Amino acid sequence: AIERTFSIIKPDATRRNLTGAINAIFEKNGLAIVAQKRIWMSRAHAKKFYEVHAERPFYNDLVDFMVSGPVVVQVLEGENAVAKNRELMGATNPANAAEGTIRKLFAESIEANSVHGSDSVENAAIEIAYFFAGYEIVG
Ligand code: CMP
Repeated sequence: AIERTFSIIKPDATRRNLTGAINAIFEKNGLAIVAQKRIWMSRAHAKKFYEVHAERPFYNDLVDFMVSGPVVVQVLEGENAVAKNRELMGATNPANAAEGTIRKLFAESIEANSVHGSDSVENAAIEIAYFFAGYEIVG
């Protein structure tokens, strides 16, 4: 089915001018960028976005990292977009990511891993609504 997923190009990637290279991978693989903006997240926004990880030992460092520079937030649309994007991203830890995946190609570490992608259609809808108004998404 045609789905939408939420994506973030993280500060380690924007810092290295990788936005276009990452977008080319999405577009080449059938994911259309139907919404996109470059923002600098506030600490409050980042903390809330990653609230599910609040009890994890990496939470505070993760929030610090996500507010360390600009990010590009996006809505990607296409056939099986949620799973397709996760396949293109590769494993969370770049050491475990498959050849050719975004994280294998570009990630610096398990934290500075270049991209975020929703893990389900349900979470995608929640995450999209957290960053975009309906009129900003143009399919
Ligand atoms: P993301 O898909 O955005 O979801 C949570 C983020 O926490 C993850 O990508 C990483 O950037 C970061 N992170 C840092 N350390 C860990 C860890 N040990 N396990 C999982 N995620 C981690």
